[in-house]
Amino acid sequence: MFGRGKRGERRARTGPVVPPRPDHDTFGTPPHPLHTPRAHTSAVRLDKVAKAYGRGAEAVHALRGVDLDIPRGTFTAVMGPSGSGKSTFLHCAAGLDKPDSGRVLLGDDDLTAMNENQLTRLRRTRLGFVFQAFNLLPSLTVEKNVLLPLRLAGQRPERGRAAEVLGMVGLHAHAGRRPAQLSGGQQQRVAIARALVTRPDVLFADEPTGALDTTTAAEVLALLRRAVDDTGATVVMVTHDPVAASYADRVVFLAEGNLAGHLHAPTPEAVAARMVGLSQPAHARGRAA
Ligand SMILES: Nc1ncnc2c1ncn2[C@@H]1O[C@H](COP(=O)(O)OP(=O)(O)O)[C@@H](O)[C@H]1O
Ligand SMILES: [Mg+2]
Repeated sequence: MFGRGKRGERRARTGPVVPPRPDHDTFGTPPHPLHTPRAHTSAVRLDKVAKAYGRGAEAVHALRGVDLDIPRGTFTAVMGPSGSGKSTFLHCAAGLDKPDSGRVLLGDDDLTAMNENQLTRLRRTRLGFVFQAFNLLPSLTVEKNVLLPLRLAGQRPERGRAAEVLGMVGLHAHAGRRPAQLSGGQQQRVAIARALVTRPDVLFADEPTGALDTTTAAEVLALLRRAVDDTGATVVMVTHDPVAASYADRVVFLAEGNLAGHLHAPTPEAVAARMVGLSQPAHARGRAA
């Protein structure tokens, strides 16, 4: 397991490291705003990202020009009513889907300018994914599941890497089992180990606790939190659960395809209160969540 500690202390300690910088140069001239160094480096940046499904009057505008900067080494939760564009956001940010307009930058690399082969390679080597349904391969052992992203990327695993990531998620002793021999929570922890094995620039999680009971969900969320605090991972998680969102450093709210605000150091109560104020898109009203 990773070390333990209170999230508040961690957040203070592991926030973006900004070197001390004088406000004025040696000649006493204030820096030009365009030349001021960025206070942090972005893991992912969305620049006016828009996507619609369908055309003309029937078109559903899932994202309507979203601008968002996700700093490295942070845990971001994305929330919003059903139909607000969360999954579309995640798919565009992770290069699983192309926006109609706007740009998505992973570090300095523009995903929207890449072809499908380049995107596939980038997803295998630089991104990690965790889904609600775990998506482990039932015929492979836990260890082989965890090493699969490296094999798909054509990389030889470092010696002991599987044991190391399985150790991080507390499943070192289960390396030889098959997924069906594990509980749901354990399977999701294997999926997290698999997502971390390549040391991805960003780990994307879509409702990772959606299929888990409260106690097991808390373990999985604590694990994502520790991946950020202890190994400097960047996590972006879609959830509809205010308690899950409260593990993040920041919650980003979507409503009808637009960004509808942020909440730093979220508590479940504050997140729930914010959600009450967000409206569902007209075409999604009356539908099941
Ligand atoms: N493949 C698709 N074809 C048509 N409409 C879609 C498709 N995917 C999503 N949508 C619509 O786009 C909107 C945003 O969807 P989505 O991103 O899945 O929202 P969320 O994850 O917040 O529920 C919804 O109205 C949804 O019905
Ligand atoms: Mg969704």
